[in-house]
Amino acid sequence: MSSNVLIIDGGGRGHAFLWKLLQSPRVGKLYIAPGNGGTGKIAKNVLIATTDIKSLARFAEKNSIDLTIVGSEDPLALGIVDVFHRRGLRIFGPTRAATQIEASKADAKRLMREQNIPTAPFQIFRKYDNALKYIRKHGAPIVVKASGLALGKGAYPCKTLTKAEKALTEIMLERAYKKAGNEVIVEKFLDGPEISIHALCDGKTSILLPTAQDHKPIFDGDKGKNTGGMGTIAPVPWVNAQTLQDVNEQIVRPTLQALTEKRRAFTGCLYPGLKITTDGPKVLEYNARFGDPETQSYMRLLKTDLLDVFDACVDGKLAELTIEWHSGFTVCVVLASGGYPGKYKKGITIFGITEAEKVPGVVVFHAGTMYSNQLRTSGGRVLGVTAVGETLQETLNRAYEAIRFIKFKGMQYRKDIGTKTLKTQIHS
Ligand code: GLY
Repeated sequence: MSSNVLIIDGGGRGHAFLWKLLQSPRVGKLYIAPGNGGTGKIAKNVLIATTDIKSLARFAEKNSIDLTIVGSEDPLALGIVDVFHRRGLRIFGPTRAATQIEASKADAKRLMREQNIPTAPFQIFRKYDNALKYIRKHGAPIVVKASGLALGKGAYPCKTLTKAEKALTEIMLERAYKKAGNEVIVEKFLDGPEISIHALCDGKTSILLPTAQDHKPIFDGDKGKNTGGMGTIAPVPWVNAQTLQDVNEQIVRPTLQALTEKRRAFTGCLYPGLKITTDGPKVLEYNARFGDPETQSYMRLLKTDLLDVFDACVDGKLAELTIEWHSGFTVCVVLASGGYPGKYKKGITIFGITEAEKVPGVVVFHAGTMYSNQLRTSGGRVLGVTAVGETLQETLNRAYEAIRFIKFKGMQYRKDIGTKTLKTQIHS
């Protein structure tokens, strides 16, 4: 029997889920709320905001939706899963209580301290003056973070005291992230490369996905402000089996166990962002959903039917599932609007996607796009150019070759996705 599916997402992650679900022989009607210019070509865009939970539940009931998949964090933090459960609707994602691990970074830090889960030493502040005093006492480098949801932009790794004071002013005095900045975490700056771990969880069992690496700062060489993510590679070849085992035993399992003990059992995708330090892996933050652009890469590498994966999570049957992956590598390079992550213009015409997708191994996922006579920009992160290949070098070459065909005024992207890893491979 086929399943009607509703995805809740407006970005590249949602487009990537749809692309993969369309390959399932069991998928019935496919809807996405609100979707974007790309998703409207392969499924039905539903013009309901991701945060309008009542309308989404009504839509699911009226349209006989068998499974709803939540991509973005806002509806999770608002309790969409709890509302759907109360109405007897099947949904993939953690409850509101379980989502607190992402929605409150302060809460997550307290949990890590209590459970001895490796993370940077920290203090939590509600008062600007106290935070400022602490920053001045400890000096730079130091990290200042808004505790609440801030579209990936609320963490400021600061190399100088001036930058740290400015970050604190932006968050606590200028209220750049509104309520999300009511609490601020100030923590030790950790040295080492960053990786993304994704664990699928059904409340009892968890399965790790391949490692991925995002590139958060806007400019090459990890310079400039943090963004939602400018590009990914997967798997990360220098993360060995022992490190992955340590991550599972020291971080993923104890986190899930603690949540279960606190009656906040986690179902969905737990995505800890980690630093791999000389002292082992340490948690930077938890996310309660799939990463973006990580998901755009993952969907290109996943062999197993994605509907089987979501069903196993929702039905508590992950232990019965083997998830298979294609060999080789996958990358995603994000093409962003000029000015992002700050202010940017919308409505700019986009050219060249058809030509780009003629490059072997390349698929372009849409994020901030819309149709208004022609395809136009409508967000900060506009497109995700994904590629697959046998080696990381070949895969990156394919993505960057495809990008040469795509144009929109102001387009910016990082030219160094995967470069550090390539250098590590050459020197190792
Ligand atoms: N990869 C960054 C994020 O999804 O938050």
